[in-house]
Amino acid sequence: MHSKTILQELGYNLHEVNPRLHYFKPNTSKTEKTFAEEISYSLTQNSKFIHPKFFYDQTGSRLFEQICHLPEYYLTRTEISILKFLKNELPQFLDKSYRLVELGSGSSTKTKLLLDILHDLQERVEYFPIDISDILKEGSQSLLESYENLHITGVIDTYEGGLKFIKSFDNTPNLVAFLGSSFGNFEYDDSIRFLHDVNSTMKQSDLFLAGIDLVKDKKILEDAYNDSRGVTAQFNLNVLQRINNELDANFDIDKFYHKAEFNEKENRIEMYLRSKEVQSVNIPKANLSIDFVKDELIHTEHSHKYTVSQIENMMDETNFEIKKIWQDPYQNYSMILASKIF
Ligand code: AVI
Repeated sequence: MHSKTILQELGYNLHEVNPRLHYFKPNTSKTEKTFAEEISYSLTQNSKFIHPKFFYDQTGSRLFEQICHLPEYYLTRTEISILKFLKNELPQFLDKSYRLVELGSGSSTKTKLLLDILHDLQERVEYFPIDISDILKEGSQSLLESYENLHITGVIDTYEGGLKFIKSFDNTPNLVAFLGSSFGNFEYDDSIRFLHDVNSTMKQSDLFLAGIDLVKDKKILEDAYNDSRGVTAQFNLNVLQRINNELDANFDIDKFYHKAEFNEKENRIEMYLRSKEVQSVNIPKANLSIDFVKDELIHTEHSHKYTVSQIENMMDETNFEIKKIWQDPYQNYSMILASKIF
């Protein structure tokens, strides 16, 4: 384990929860914009928008969990089926020195499928989740109970910050997983920047494993984001409720519709909230009063879908060598394993 001085140089503090659960947190507080500041910017633009990261308050995270189990939302179960298949495939790329690094705290079902693979290879399994918030509360205890030889080290930081930290932390080879097609929620430029950032923090033996949703039939895609039980609609509308709760706003949730459609030119699901009528909303904690015309849209999310050749081009452009691409039998979803080109 590192001495306190080295950690200080890296700018992180170590917190020990118990002998098998630690976390690192940067000791300088970053100057991030507040929710109120971001909302007061994004809702005063000509085309109003709310960043999708704001979906995930407690209710939003619970609703997202429900989305993952919906019959129409093929992404989660398809990714899980590929991860199960990897049990016999991934070991040929690993040895007993690898640790699992996960970007985002992930779902414990998927994390366990990857930990199972390491568990079969190793006497001591290391798992480093990187997340900007709350990573340790989510599922750590259940993971520790499932694996006696598991040691969890959370890094509470941005993906980029966390990966840089891990790179300077030691020489252990990392299997860096980015699951759930969260990659699709980046705008194109941001996705390239993200791949560059991941690549620049990788060591020779590190591997990057990403789950990415593929372009497919419009109906399948639109059904996945317009489920028959209306859970995705609740998830989308909940962001307005969050603004009410946290910024004392007076959005009348019943006066907005959920709208999700596939843009075939851009290969992405576009999600919006549409105002049912002319209305005004006050958001006191953002010092804001905003007007909506009938049918005005608030853009809330893009979920990009890629073709395999687009993925290959992006990886190529960002200095990755693809080791293998797995797809499900219907070619709905892909899992990419790549290393850095030196
Ligand atoms: C988290 N992310 C990959 C989901 C997606 O499919 O883009 C978020 C989501 N939005 C609506 N349904 C699910």
